[in-house]
Amino acid sequence: MKSTLSKIIGAIVVLAVGVFLGKSFFSSPNVDTVPMPSTIKYRNVGLSNDTTKVAQSNDFNGKIIEVKDGSSIQEAVKAANPGDLIRVYPGIYSENVYIDKDDISLQGVVIKGEWPVLDGKKEINDAFLYSGNGILIENFKIINYKGNGIMGQAGNNFIIRNNWIIDTGVYGIFPQYGKNGLIEHNVLSVIADAAIYVGMCDNVDVLHNEVFDSVAGIEIENSRHCLVENNYAHDNTGGLLAFVTPGLPIKTTFDVILRNNFVVNNNHENFGAPGSTVAGIPSGTGVLIMAADDVIVENNIITGNKNSGITIVDLATGDPKANDPNSEGNPDRVVILDNIMYENGNDPTGELKAIMLTQMDTRGPDIFAYGGGTGSTIRDKNKYRTFGLGGYGVAQITNTDDIPTMRTPSPVAARSVSKEEIGELTYYGVCAGCHAFGTRLIGPPTEIIQAIHNGNPQGIVDYINNPKNLREDYPEMPPQDYLDDNAKMAVAEYILALKQ
Ligand code: HEC
Repeated sequence: MKSTLSKIIGAIVVLAVGVFLGKSFFSSPNVDTVPMPSTIKYRNVGLSNDTTKVAQSNDFNGKIIEVKDGSSIQEAVKAANPGDLIRVYPGIYSENVYIDKDDISLQGVVIKGEWPVLDGKKEINDAFLYSGNGILIENFKIINYKGNGIMGQAGNNFIIRNNWIIDTGVYGIFPQYGKNGLIEHNVLSVIADAAIYVGMCDNVDVLHNEVFDSVAGIEIENSRHCLVENNYAHDNTGGLLAFVTPGLPIKTTFDVILRNNFVVNNNHENFGAPGSTVAGIPSGTGVLIMAADDVIVENNIITGNKNSGITIVDLATGDPKANDPNSEGNPDRVVILDNIMYENGNDPTGELKAIMLTQMDTRGPDIFAYGGGTGSTIRDKNKYRTFGLGGYGVAQITNTDDIPTMRTPSPVAARSVSKEEIGELTYYGVCAGCHAFGTRLIGPPTEIIQAIHNGNPQGIVDYINNPKNLREDYPEMPPQDYLDDNAKMAVAEYILALKQ
């Protein structure tokens, strides 16, 4: 299928030159505002849960495209223009939907408990893959995909809500490289990496989701200004995670609030792909803060996590194979406010167990801090069983009531991408989900790919068109043949030129 990113990029380049002249996505600040598109107004009138009255909304000016069982959502996307609403009726849709236009809303219509179901049959990679701005995806049941349920690539101002996502491969909901997003009221289970993975994003709220039976519940990675609130993370290997993965172009995770969540019994056996970052998460991890700064943990109920309730570590301890001189590896200025914590650490494993045994303690603590980091504080240490909090001062704040959201007050500008940036966008938007420069993620490190294909970009293009499983200890790479030829060659050349 030839469409997607090339068209996206084509469209973006035109937009870039015509409208957002001179603003580069990679360097523009995240506070630019544009007039609200009509779909955003429609979203604000609160009709999203009413699947019968959207068209009556005064603010909705687009056209409605209906998709019924037996027809294709992708065809509807092709027919849609910015501002349109695509309503999908109950039925089984086995497809891979690419959304490379701006301001498209996709809304499932649930009738008498019957959902529109996207079923990947364990053959199709992704259910929804969007790169447009202002994308809304709500009310879908998504099952049996191999890669991702819903993945965003550099789209800003996204809303993903009310979806029910089961066993969709590596990630359930994965906005990557986006700004100003809302992920709410989704239920996700049986995801082999992170159920909700906010990667290299800014200003995202993750609210009221249930995540369970997955390796990582909710993961805030190389992302800034995120609020994770009122979620129920249970029976994962790890519940809530805020961390830095080295080797990515955005090097930091900071300004994250984990508030009012239930983080319960996250003792699932780790079934992450061998070598992936999450494969290192010990079973029994409630909250993990690794190398992330300015994380506030407030008012959560954290119970029954067998290794520890909250683990705070530096990269050298948590991910020792990590090798990125530009990533600062210490968790600094972590703030632990009041939380309810009990019955954590009942059956610790691995390094934590060994460290606790040196203290003559066979249990793991509620809060475990190990390695570097400065400026961290706690409101009342006496409430918990702790290890390694000797350097923690008394918290200077008592709550975060003055921060109701991390989203921006109005939508941020669409990114703009020049032709030279196609390779970079494709790399970080598509490949970097699985490849990092000097670190093994799902796929081998990019520096290994450079060594194998040195001077031969066509070799990379050939491989991504038709990947073969070459390594016993890696899964098969999904084909990237939906990318257009320019994007493929651009990304191959970008990879070969990449320095760290
Ligand atoms: C969903 C995860 C995933 C994504 C996305 C992904 N890869 Fe991979 N890639 C892998 C895995 C896994 C392997 C190792 C496969 C094996 O060796 O069997 C791999 C291997 C490779 C190789 C090594 C081939 C060789 O000769 O050894 C190249 C080249 C490559 N990927 C390029 C890319 C490019 C370019 C992109 C983006 C357009 C990309 N990959 C996106 C998972 C991914």
